[in-house]
Amino acid sequence: MSNRFRLREALSQFPPYVPGKPPVQAPGLTPFKLSSNENHLPPLPGVLDAVTDGGQIPANYPDPKSTKLVADLADHLGVEPAEVVPGAGASEVLSALTNITLEAGTSVVYPWPSFEMYPILAVARGAEKRAVPTLPDGRHDFQGLLSEIDQTTRLVLLCSPNNPTGPAITSEELDGFLAEVPADVIVALDEAYFEFATGAEAVDGLAAYRKHPNLVLVRTFSKAHGLAGLRVGYGVADETIATALRQVIAPFSVTAVAQAAAAESLGRVGEVLVRAKQVAADRDRFAADLRELGFDVPDSEGNYVWVALDPEEAVAFEGACAEVAVAIRRLTGGVRISIGPDEALDRVRTVAATFAAERRDRSAQA
Ligand SMILES: Cc1ncc(COP(=O)(O)O)c(C=O)c1O
Repeated sequence: MSNRFRLREALSQFPPYVPGKPPVQAPGLTPFKLSSNENHLPPLPGVLDAVTDGGQIPANYPDPKSTKLVADLADHLGVEPAEVVPGAGASEVLSALTNITLEAGTSVVYPWPSFEMYPILAVARGAEKRAVPTLPDGRHDFQGLLSEIDQTTRLVLLCSPNNPTGPAITSEELDGFLAEVPADVIVALDEAYFEFATGAEAVDGLAAYRKHPNLVLVRTFSKAHGLAGLRVGYGVADETIATALRQVIAPFSVTAVAQAAAAESLGRVGEVLVRAKQVAADRDRFAADLRELGFDVPDSEGNYVWVALDPEEAVAFEGACAEVAVAIRRLTGGVRISIGPDEALDRVRTVAATFAAERRDRSAQA
């Protein structure tokens, strides 16, 4: 760490956040970015009008309380407005959760691999990070998570569907887990992708929230609602926790444009869900095709699939996709491919078929 300025020592320990790469251009091919789990469908009618209307007076600060959005969310979810905490994306709500719980001498428990911000936030708050490996099928290891919770633990982060591995937590798993977690430890359920879940057993966060006051839901308009560029998400929490969250979230962090677009999109949530199910159907077909080719693809309930690969294969797979102008995400243990337009997925299918044939040749020669 430079000693020119009085910066925190801990900065040198921050794991880097590596954003999804943009696609490499290839002659004659439309580039596609399947590396950030964005929604590839066009905005819903009405949402762009809301963006325009919401941005009419850029000189003014937005409503600091996001009053309309909060009221609409409370109504939609069947909770009190005091339980809804908007933020600049789920990221800000997650950051606020770590801010109200963690400090030096405390610990946070979470599955791994999972959302890359979890370890960054833990280190940023000076807390001990306790990452619990997911099971071989990409599911959370609840016994493992439980065994990492002790007196120092202030926060547990769960992710359903899990990014990047794909599976959703089941209601039974969550209820069983929460029955064992001390009632004063906050458990955050990151549901950034819940609208894409189609499995009958996928947890209904809201139902679980009603039973467990220490459960906080973290949701976003970035994924199924397709508003990632506007930065708006929200937490649903017991009023005591919600009040603490509001204390640390920067005032005015949700812009007027984001508030207006999110409220409009929420008003069209039926259409949002239909589109999410279309993405889910594409996902299931894509996952089945990759499995058919011999790849290890866990069940995914998000708008992406995870392909388990050894490190060399992952580099080669990512490179082969880049050559056909498709950016995918390489992480430890494999690659994650967001569900995009057919043309993009077909190119990845072709790459995967070539890859599978080469694998077969190699094993025949061995
Ligand atoms: C699991 C998970 N949680 C939270 C987020 C943050 O979403 P945002 O800040 O865009 O709402 C992401 C983004 O990719 C994610 O994958």
